[in-house]
Amino acid sequence: MTDAELIKEAIEARKKSYCPYSNYAVGAALLTKNGKVYRGCNIENAAFSPTNCAERTAIFKAVSEGDTDFSRIAIIGGSVDGPVDSYAYPCGVCRQVMMEFCNPETFEIIAAMSEDVYQIFTLKELFPEGFGPDNL
Ligand code: THU
Repeated sequence: MTDAELIKEAIEARKKSYCPYSNYAVGAALLTKNGKVYRGCNIENAAFSPTNCAERTAIFKAVSEGDTDFSRIAIIGGSVDGPVDSYAYPCGVCRQVMMEFCNPETFEIIAAMSEDVYQIFTLKELFPEGFGPDNL
């Protein structure tokens, strides 16, 4: 799957965002090593702290279906009212959740503004010296 195709999935996922409090809509598309895509959006809550980010929605959907081997994730976010004009980088909690299932050296995070404007990082670049299953 190309970068643009995975970003397109994240753009579709973003349309399902439930973000009445922040009005900041995020979509994520997680690619498994066997080629399946899990979409996720941010899901907010009136009590605020139960809010789930788009990345974790996608990861938890995949794990709950028995998929735990991931190769990359595309993320796109911005105000619901305007064009996406900045990158939505994964929050610290999502980076920690990625650390649980993904190889930091090889797992790729695509932060996108559009299908053709994006940056690619490894998890290790965004979460150096992270604590993961290998530390226990
Ligand atoms: N959010 C995500 O879903 N992913 C990110 O990478 C950054 C933040 C969500 C959480 C909340 O619903 C909204 O964006 C504003 O923080």
